[in-house]
Amino acid sequence: MGDRQHWDRVYDARDETALTWFEAAPTLSHDLVRRHVRPGDAILDVGGGASRLVDALLEDGLGPITVLDLSPGALAASRARLGPRAGSVTWIAADITGWTPPRRYALWHDRAVFHFLTAPSDRAAYVATMAAALTPGGTAIIATFALDGPATCSGLPVCRYSPETLAAEIDTHAPGRFVPLGAARHLHHTPKGATQAFQVSWFRRTDASA
Ligand SMILES: C[S@@+](CC[C@H](N)C(=O)[O-])C[C@H]1O[C@@H](n2cnc3c(N)ncnc32)[C@H](O)[C@@H]1O
Repeated sequence: MGDRQHWDRVYDARDETALTWFEAAPTLSHDLVRRHVRPGDAILDVGGGASRLVDALLEDGLGPITVLDLSPGALAASRARLGPRAGSVTWIAADITGWTPPRRYALWHDRAVFHFLTAPSDRAAYVATMAAALTPGGTAIIATFALDGPATCSGLPVCRYSPETLAAEIDTHAPGRFVPLGAARHLHHTPKGATQAFQVSWFRRTDASA
């Protein structure tokens, strides 16, 4: 998945708008989050990097919002962009595979983070954290490269998924705790004009072992 230095170098080297995963308007994530939260629900953007999802959710008056990322440099880029509005967001620099959630969230959003976890032990840790962080009945939205998406991202190998293989992978690590609710295919256009196939799935965390 790369270490903190890798990701800090990536965000230091280029403006956020030049990164392959940049979205000027993260429309699909934004729509999915809005569909699954009510006002006042706590939202966690895992590996949010410099994404503008937080800007859109602040505009909506949703949250409280927490953005977590391995790279403090990525979080700094978002804070600088948001200016005074950054003060109403909780920013956490941490590795999601070793993080202990300080509270529960109604919604977990991850775009292009889980797919970097190529070691089964890291995927197990991620899913355990997700189960601990979400309120029973909460929603997890996870976007990864699709089976026909790129094999690498940011110079790192990734695991690609279909809706079925992602659901199976999550169920392996937390049997019966996440029910698939839906999935969609998404074609992302990078700043240089390449097309990347993503797939996004959303799950409900069950009450089991609440
Ligand atoms: C491809 S970028 C996607 C960023 C953002 N989600 C978006 O859509 O713009 C992947 C992000 O995951 C972060 N990341 C990678 N491994 C991580 C980990 N183990 N824990 C937390 N963040 C991680 C990186 O720092 C980077 O910001």
